[in-house]
Amino acid sequence: MAASSVVRGEDAFKKVFKFYKRKSPPPDFSDVTDFSKGLPSDKIVPAVLDLSAVSDSEAARAGLQPVKSWRAFGLQGYPGFIFISNPFLRGSQPFWIRQCLKTYPQKPNVCNLDMHMSPSDTQDIWGQSVHGLSSSPSGKREPKTLLERLRWVTLGYHYNWDTKTYSANHHTPLPADLHLLSVQITAACGFPGFSAQAGILNYYRHDSSLGIHVDESELDHSRPLLSFSFGQSAIFLLGGVRREDPPTAMYMHSGDVMVMSGQSRLFYHAVPRIIPALEMEGHRMALFSQDSTLGGVLSEEDRLLCTRYIQSSRLNVTVRQVLGPGQRFPETPSPPQKTDASQAGGVPGQTSQRRKEEEESSL
Ligand code: OGA
Ligand code: MN
Repeated sequence: MAASSVVRGEDAFKKVFKFYKRKSPPPDFSDVTDFSKGLPSDKIVPAVLDLSAVSDSEAARAGLQPVKSWRAFGLQGYPGFIFISNPFLRGSQPFWIRQCLKTYPQKPNVCNLDMHMSPSDTQDIWGQSVHGLSSSPSGKREPKTLLERLRWVTLGYHYNWDTKTYSANHHTPLPADLHLLSVQITAACGFPGFSAQAGILNYYRHDSSLGIHVDESELDHSRPLLSFSFGQSAIFLLGGVRREDPPTAMYMHSGDVMVMSGQSRLFYHAVPRIIPALEMEGHRMALFSQDSTLGGVLSEEDRLLCTRYIQSSRLNVTVRQVLGPGQRFPETPSPPQKTDASQAGGVPGQTSQRRKEEEESSL
């Protein structure tokens, strides 16, 4: 049975989410759009890019192919949605993977482990995980490394999962390399002047999912939202403005970039399933077989750890512009009160899984 036969009625999105999340028997994937196959159809249309917005050498500085080589698509019925099928230069993905695993989790950025650990215990997540991740499995159950327990990192304006807001007083600089990458992608997609102000990184294990949601906490919705995928493939569901709108399922493979702009900026979406690379013929992880062109060649240790990690995990980087030009956060009358956990909507420290668990518990 294909997903298209389960989508009628109330909360069609939830039905499709459950369909693709099911473990056994595994679902029928025949309705899942695969942009990497690249064949325009009645649903998939070529996206028009601004070829003059980014020079080839600027693109290479962010590890991207010349814009004229990108395979970018739109989807019928989803105005403003752009899917770019892996525009990265061969060999540049390991740089971004290492940034997500080794660099971006460092202070002053914020991660889920900070919710219940002291800053000194979370200041070197990578260093503390090297031994556990690089030793071969001994057979007995080893405690999970910090890297394996990492679920999210926030950058720039740090997203508050309890209040679902960003604020002026919780901000650290967004990494310059990620800013450059985002500015180039958005410029090529016809959004000059994009300002990357916040990032949310999601770390998915083979059994993780991300519940149905809309990203609406940013104060300016006229600016696009960017999403990068690295590592294992996944299924992405893109719906509409109502939960009754049946979503379209598509694969996200390593290197794929999505731009949600225009009407689709506020469409419901979710990630019901990670697809192990071995199940994804043609997308086995040959990522590390190339010499890196960006940030120099990875050290042997970095290469080994990144490879180990990515063999069973997926990384997702979303980049957001929070404020429009000249816009400011609304004045808050008093500094945030220390709320009790029930008022805040959960137990501090469990917020890491919030969006995932919310979905789980309501299914
Ligand atoms: C998000 C999001 C999707 C993904 O972080 O808001 O929708 O591909 N991520 O993981
Ligand atoms: Mn989202």
